[in-house]
Amino acid sequence: MHTQVGIVGAGPAGLLLGHLLHRMGVDSVILEARDREHVMNRVRAGVLEQFTADLMTHLGVGARLHREGLRHESVYLSFAGRRHLVPLAELTGGKAIYVYGQNEVVKDLMEARISTGRPLHYEVQNASVHHIDSPRPVIRYTANGRQQELTCDFIAGCDGFHGICRPALGDAVRFYDRTYPFGWLGILAEAPPSSEALVYTYHDRGFALFSMRSPNITRLYFQVPPDEDIDRWSDDAIWQEMLRRMTTCDGWKPNVGPILNKNVTAMRSFVTEPMCAGRLYLAGDAAHIVPPTGAKGLNLAAFDVLHLGRAIAAFYRTGKTDLLRQYSDTALERAWKTQRFSWWMTQTLHRFPDENPFDSKRQLSDLGYLTSSKAAMTSLAENYVGLPVDIEL
Ligand code: APR
Ligand code: PHB
Repeated sequence: MHTQVGIVGAGPAGLLLGHLLHRMGVDSVILEARDREHVMNRVRAGVLEQFTADLMTHLGVGARLHREGLRHESVYLSFAGRRHLVPLAELTGGKAIYVYGQNEVVKDLMEARISTGRPLHYEVQNASVHHIDSPRPVIRYTANGRQQELTCDFIAGCDGFHGICRPALGDAVRFYDRTYPFGWLGILAEAPPSSEALVYTYHDRGFALFSMRSPNITRLYFQVPPDEDIDRWSDDAIWQEMLRRMTTCDGWKPNVGPILNKNVTAMRSFVTEPMCAGRLYLAGDAAHIVPPTGAKGLNLAAFDVLHLGRAIAAFYRTGKTDLLRQYSDTALERAWKTQRFSWWMTQTLHRFPDENPFDSKRQLSDLGYLTSSKAAMTSLAENYVGLPVDIEL
């Protein structure tokens, strides 16, 4: 079997790349280790930057996003018992964020893939990549008990943080990372959101976040130790802690309801440099991880894919490799800006086990400055809605 682009992984990065390439007349095969239901139902973050929403619209996969997604033109920062509104759209010339579950993005892209008739194979095992320094790299894998070999012009490693493509880059790559001394306990609750905007809370007992998925579903998080056992938390104990951290002096608090899903996620920052070797190119979580504060992971994946898709299509159109050669630098420039912002939001809003009273005073002062200076708030807003991207293919 041969294809132009062999894509490993059918998360948001792999599916979006497949669709983008299809729109530009480039053939691909997507190989995914898990089954369709697993990929479709994973609960992840749910905030799209303006450019990610625009890109989906531009690629013809934005109809349901615009019907069911929630456009948010502001966000709250809450500390010392008070919520402060950050008017995102007003500060950024009309840009906003879209609250739309990542699993909904994945569903839309899976449907789009099916309608193109191009191959997407689930439950492939033992995928491995070979000959990445040759013009004919190869992916070997097992499907339905049979060994398969797919030759490609290019391989896209969209297989997430635990995938096999990053290790295949070889010894010339460097990794930069930071792990955080906390994680997030997250729940989906059957309760109508009690605020029209997200609320990021700094509290003595630690960070908390109010978000939502739909007019009936609230999504909430709070900071816990990184190795916290979710089974230690009864639903009652979770609600008690949520309310304790989130309730503000004016009486605002989340609505309580049955918990539909709960889990603990560890947090890290991670970057691979460069993001390619030979004809193997990484995109999304395979190359970099950001902590979820700011919800940038999916958006960064979309940026990678836009530039990788464009570079590959340009190669087929013109025979030129300049965009492919620039890909890693272009993606890394954005990745580092996003790392900086996600790290900054994380360290501003969380309690650290080794902090002293100076640190918490400084954090409160940081938040006070942020919510009283138009310049500081504008900087937050332009990063939160996403730095500008040209989405023309
Ligand atoms: N072979 C085939 N598929 C694999 C393999 C493998 N060896 N290893 C991993 N995969 C698949 C996973 O099962 C998963 O479906 O690759 C996919 C990677 O998807 P994600 O982890 O969602 O990563 P990505 O597509 O880069 O998405 C980035 O989504 O996961 C969030 O936090 C992430 O928001 C970020 C965005
Ligand atoms: C979410 O809704 O899941 C969410 C929102 C904002 C974040 C992280 C996650 O910063």
